Amino acid sequence: MDIDDVRDDLSQVLYSREQIDERIRQIAAEVDRDYEGKDLLLVGVLNGAIMVMSDLSRALRSHCEMEWMAISSYGAGTASSGVVRILKDLSVDLVGRHVLIVEDIVDTGLTLAYLVENLRARGPASVEIMTAFRKPEAIKNKITVKYVGFDIPNQFVVGYGLDYAGKYRNMTGLGILDPKVYLQE
Ligand code: IMP
Repeated sequence: MDIDDVRDDLSQVLYSREQIDERIRQIAAEVDRDYEGKDLLLVGVLNGAIMVMSDLSRALRSHCEMEWMAISSYGAGTASSGVVRILKDLSVDLVGRHVLIVEDIVDTGLTLAYLVENLRARGPASVEIMTAFRKPEAIKNKITVKYVGFDIPNQFVVGYGLDYAGKYRNMTGLGILDPKVYLQE
């Protein structure tokens, strides 16, 4: 699905497919350089990270392995509590591995802070974070993200793996969802 297919649902288009593609390629080149000669394990967080994982991994010039985790955060409504339940865990041992967590978006970063702590306890050589998008809240909370695709405004965005009620994940590009879409319901 292209941005134009749902253009009426968006109050603003933030990034086109081409702009995201180019930025992910730049990051892949940095990752190639930073992890040269190291055994890289990409850990994607389901479901949002599917697109960025797919693009980042294919833009790398070197080998990597890919693993997935599914987590759900407890907490009332939309507020992220930072208390996390692992729904699907990794199927590999992390001892001595260089882990790069691949995320779609870091908002408060509370979920991610828990995840990093959890993975660090498993004895990896390193744990770093790559995210396609980051909201201002994450910067305020001082979550250390090594690779950031784009810093975006504090608005609800969809596309490139990010959904609203399960939809828009398959939209190329990133846009701000027009409030009329969720106020209608
Ligand atoms: P955090 O713990 O607040 O960083 O929560 C991050 C998670 O909230 C992401 O992995 C997304 O699933 C979801 N999320 C945060 N902001 C947005 C948004 O603007 N659109 C869609 N999902 C979002």
